[in-house]
Amino acid sequence: MLVVKAEGRRAQQEWCEHLTTLAPWLAIRSHGFEEVRDEDIAYALAWDPPPGWLASLPNLKMVISIGAGVDHITQDPSWPRHLPLVRMGGEEIGQRMGEYVAWACLNLLRNGQGFARLQAERRWKHLPAANTARDLTVGIMGMGTLGARAVPMLQGLGYTVIGWSRGRKTVEGAESYAGSDELDAFLARSDVLVCLLPSTPETSGIINAGLLTRLPAGAAVVNAARGAHLVVPDLIAALDSGHLSGAVLDVFDTEPLPEDSPLWAHPKVTVTPHVASIARRRERARFVAGVIADFEAGRPLPNLYDPIRGY
Ligand code: NAP
Ligand code: GLV
Repeated sequence: MLVVKAEGRRAQQEWCEHLTTLAPWLAIRSHGFEEVRDEDIAYALAWDPPPGWLASLPNLKMVISIGAGVDHITQDPSWPRHLPLVRMGGEEIGQRMGEYVAWACLNLLRNGQGFARLQAERRWKHLPAANTARDLTVGIMGMGTLGARAVPMLQGLGYTVIGWSRGRKTVEGAESYAGSDELDAFLARSDVLVCLLPSTPETSGIINAGLLTRLPAGAAVVNAARGAHLVVPDLIAALDSGHLSGAVLDVFDTEPLPEDSPLWAHPKVTVTPHVASIARRRERARFVAGVIADFEAGRPLPNLYDPIRGY
């Protein structure tokens, strides 16, 4: 049996409907809304599961994360780390993240935030773009599954693209920087810094004052990974000093972003409500059905979380 714990009753119902069609051999139940005996649960498909719930299931065999990030699961100290944990995958997540990153870079390039404000004030004013995409380099911090998907989209727009990760990557057309030794060289070239790192103890607070000063003057920041990566007061200070020209932020330490956050009204900041890449449920359910079929056939699992690396 697979039990779905998602973002609410309707979401769970929709997941169950898709999975019943796509994995007809499996019993599918909605957490908290259907009678289930804990000992019958073999698989859990989860977003933000209640602390202790996964650990309480005696016959659980695998956990599948409803997100590509797994911090909402691993933040529970009791999560069963001896079991396979699979991060959400599938074609559409990469497509949507690539679209978001491309949109964010163009929004920064063409002064989308400035024009939105002028429109709200009914003011007709030119805000010329100093550069074209061909003049700029986008540095993708975290050249993993999603980062690699953004590369061809950005290149198609004319940007030069470089990437930074722990290990060296061969992503066509994107020069690869690896490890802490090469971080400075990567930052020095990043006119737009795009964060697509996983949330781990090493990456927590990585976008801080020290890092921001190493970006070129006039650089911009896009964070579509997790709020934990960004030290917000340091970002605001760098924007206010004029060192940074703008930021597009999709993820925050506290979500929803509190009403009193200075980010909402900052003239150089565009806020989106954690929507960078939410694939349609049917597409994600197709991935889940495939993962369970792989597991039951003893095939290697895609997108497997590595508890040693922490992502
Ligand atoms: P991924 O495939 O695991 O890629 C992560 C990349 O980060 C890898 O290239 C990895 O390097 C690199 N990395 C990890 N730790 C590092 C470190 N300490 N120093 C340097 N590089 C490091 O992850 P993904 O699926 O692309 O997801 C990326 C992020 O997007 C996650 O934070 C996820 O939560 C977030 N996300 C957000 C949304 C949204 O809607 N906003 C949607 C989906 C995902 P190696 O490959 O060399 O190990
Ligand atoms: C969304 O943030 C995800 O992790 O997929």
